[in-house]
Amino acid sequence: MTPENRQAAAQTAVARCLALAACTEVQGETTRLYLCDAMREVHALLRGWMEAAGMAVALDAAGNLRGLYEAADTGARQTLLIGSHLDTVPNAGAFDGVLGVVLGVAAIEALEGKRLPYAIEVLGFAEEEGVRFGKPFLGSLALVGRLDEAVLALEDRKGVSVREALTGYGLDAGALGRAAIDCERTLGYLEVHIEQGPVLEQEDARLGVVAAIAGQTRAQLRFLGQANHAGTTPMCLRHDALAAAAAWVSAVEERARATAGLVGTVGRFEVRPGAGNVIPAEVVATLDLRHPDDAVRAAAASELLARAMSEAEARGVRCEYALTLEQAAVPMHAGLTELLQRAAWQAGHSAGLMTSGAGHDAMMLAPAVPAAMLFVRSPGGVSHHPEETVRVADVEAALETMVEFLELLREDEAGLEISGEMGTQHA
Ligand code: HGY
Ligand code: MN
Ligand code: MN
Repeated sequence: MTPENRQAAAQTAVARCLALAACTEVQGETTRLYLCDAMREVHALLRGWMEAAGMAVALDAAGNLRGLYEAADTGARQTLLIGSHLDTVPNAGAFDGVLGVVLGVAAIEALEGKRLPYAIEVLGFAEEEGVRFGKPFLGSLALVGRLDEAVLALEDRKGVSVREALTGYGLDAGALGRAAIDCERTLGYLEVHIEQGPVLEQEDARLGVVAAIAGQTRAQLRFLGQANHAGTTPMCLRHDALAAAAAWVSAVEERARATAGLVGTVGRFEVRPGAGNVIPAEVVATLDLRHPDDAVRAAAASELLARAMSEAEARGVRCEYALTLEQAAVPMHAGLTELLQRAAWQAGHSAGLMTSGAGHDAMMLAPAVPAAMLFVRSPGGVSHHPEETVRVADVEAALETMVEFLELLREDEAGLEISGEMGTQHA
């Protein structure tokens, strides 16, 4: 690729992300949850770009969009997966997830019709954020055969189950088995993603390579008190659900601030009945705790869930909770990660190792196949926000690195022991 082509390709990638950001459930912002109608517009645009790049495109039973770029020898046993997610958080930016899918297509376009000794499948995961059903990674769980009955039974706030949502979207949950990959035939998984934090900007670096993804504990809590008159009920006779929940939220912030590397967030906080002159009867709240060390995260989680109970009890309030995610920290594959760093250096870019505080689909793929992640600088460290953005030059650096990575993989530099067209893999 000439420097002019590379820059043009990066500009096209950014423009495509912005075009996809306009596919939304809520006018004036970017909100695209699992199996929403706006996702059909995203699939139509991506399908056009993928097919123009020589890919065969399909939608799997979980709603993942999959573009296959065949190997030089269509009998080749191995496939490299490149992907990320297409769903968003409410009022999102334009690049979280989407950039990794758009750059997967751009990397195929950069091959300019050349075929490799392995196939490449570009994946647009249907659901990673966990917003609609409270459980993240539903798209990539399908790829590793873990979209099971328990997940299919999860319901959204309207009482629609995952199974019903799949049927409503025109998909067949009975065919989920065919969405799963053959790990023996999978060379590895590469995910390119915005950093979503301030580290690369502080280091004035375009790119970073992920060594490990922090573990997560997510829970939903309910504080159940008693509504009563705000003017006539003495303080000593109240069962104020909000007072209990508010004391707990302060404890979450306090514990996270006091523990190096721990981040704690109460992102959802709903008060009922929500009238100014009624003592709050009920609070629904979420907890999101993350840390690179699983023991530190687990200790904080058990302490803070116990604290929710004690703050409630002190006020004659009941508290119940459900764990919605217990996800251990996930290291990336050493050989593939080293190869990705080498690709960045050969493309003329630094790419230091770093931990990801954000979760990614790579967490689901990494236990099954070699996985590696490339981070692109987030200007202002902003994400999950409309002001999330990227620099074209950084996207260009990521694309150059991907092209180098495909070549290095071709020469079997990752120690994956790819042998010939009918390669065998011993990751
Ligand atoms: O919340 C996260 O870690 C990611 O954005 N899904
Ligand atoms: Mn996200
Ligand atoms: Mn993401």
